[in-house]
Amino acid sequence: MTTQQDGVTVVDHPLVRHKLTLMRQKDRSTKGFRELLNEIGTLLCYEVTRDLPIEMIEVETPLMLTQQPIISGKKLVFAPILRAGVGFLDGMLQLVPAARVAHIGLYRDPQTLQAVEYYFKAPSDIAERMVVVMDPMLATANSAVAAVDRLKERGAKDLRFVCLLAAPEGIARLRGAHPDVRIWTAAIDECLNDHGYIVPGLGDAGDRMFGTR
Ligand code: PRP
Ligand code: URA
Repeated sequence: MTTQQDGVTVVDHPLVRHKLTLMRQKDRSTKGFRELLNEIGTLLCYEVTRDLPIEMIEVETPLMLTQQPIISGKKLVFAPILRAGVGFLDGMLQLVPAARVAHIGLYRDPQTLQAVEYYFKAPSDIAERMVVVMDPMLATANSAVAAVDRLKERGAKDLRFVCLLAAPEGIARLRGAHPDVRIWTAAIDECLNDHGYIVPGLGDAGDRMFGTR
């Protein structure tokens, strides 16, 4: 189940909505929060790969020769934005175990809300792959735009962005800066508060995943 508009797909399957509600609860344990993010990662991966190209191959079943579909050629890179993006990674790799991984280390300066890069490592053949950038939170989109800028600098041409919660402001910024990058999200929340947090939101995703603060 999805709702699509202007390059944004909201994955509003009941399982996703249910799990997201549990994650929003402030008393949810670190372990529970991490497990739910991982599970939603798998469900979002299912949707973001929905239109992968298919080709027919010949298969010999115990009964006969037949033409059957497999995913053709398209290779993937999963690109989590550290730290919180890592929470999606295992869930996505469960469905696409052969995907390569690009790590993008960015933190948001709490005063300026600008993204500051501290690490970047991507596969050398990124130009030939579809890159799925992942981060649970799309708030101002400063981090997402910086990540996509950096991946494009390295040659990436076919990019998608997956998040758990998006603010309308973040969607507008990312779509404006990179109209070629489609967005998949579990929900679109109301707005950002004065500190650039998504409301109603779920707080600081990295801190909740790793029990820091
Ligand atoms: C959070 C989140 C995003 C970013 C979103 O990371 O995981 O990367 O903020 O905000 P933005 O859209 O306004 O850029 P944070 O900078 O807190 O780092 P962390 O994951 O290491 O905690
Ligand atoms: N980063 C988070 O982790 N949460 C927000 O609400 C905004 C940015």
